[in-house]
Amino acid sequence: MPRTAPLRVVVLASGTGTLLQALLDARPAAGSWTVTAVGSDLHSCQALDRAAAAGVPTFTVALADHPTRADWDAALAAACADADLIVSAGFMKLVGPAFLAAHDGKMINSHPSLLPSFPGMHAARDALAYGVHVTGCTIFLVDAGVDAGPIVAQEAVRVLPDDTVASLHERIKVAERGLLVSVVTSLATHGWRVAGRKVVPS
Ligand code: GAR
Repeated sequence: MPRTAPLRVVVLASGTGTLLQALLDARPAAGSWTVTAVGSDLHSCQALDRAAAAGVPTFTVALADHPTRADWDAALAAACADADLIVSAGFMKLVGPAFLAAHDGKMINSHPSLLPSFPGMHAARDALAYGVHVTGCTIFLVDAGVDAGPIVAQEAVRVLPDDTVASLHERIKVAERGLLVSVVTSLATHGWRVAGRKVVPS
């Protein structure tokens, strides 16, 4: 049955939040998806400021405020309970078993490389160091692996001869912003399910 209410999107972020901003700017006025909350593992970061400026509710679930990582993971899962889709947009923590059990197949992550090349925290640096001529970005469904889930979409970005890590990462982020908006819109419009390694309309 086609969805009647907008898809409720919760965005998780830890950093400057430019990917989040792209989503906030692209929210359809009355359409297929909306950002219902923005969460972070930090009490203060630019991403939370951007959400507040856009009038979107925020929450923080900080690792240091919980006795164990498992407690933190369960608290984060509970904070996202109302989400139809969770978007990790520069969220610099790995979610664990409790989160994945509660939100299996409902979380996407944007990563600044063409996975499976250059997983991890320093994808632009690692691509530059390796000497590849083309890198890019990947949006994938989060599973128990590290940057290993089924791929939703990818976009290539050329590496230029005089690129630094910062210039390359910034060009990748331009691609990420557009791709993330188009992926969220497409998932909200067509639904999704996993078929093997593929993410297909439901
Ligand atoms: C993005 O490049 C995103 O892919 C990356 O952090 C940046 C966030 O940018 N995430 C990871 O590397 C996760 N492994 P932003 O804070 O400007 O939105």
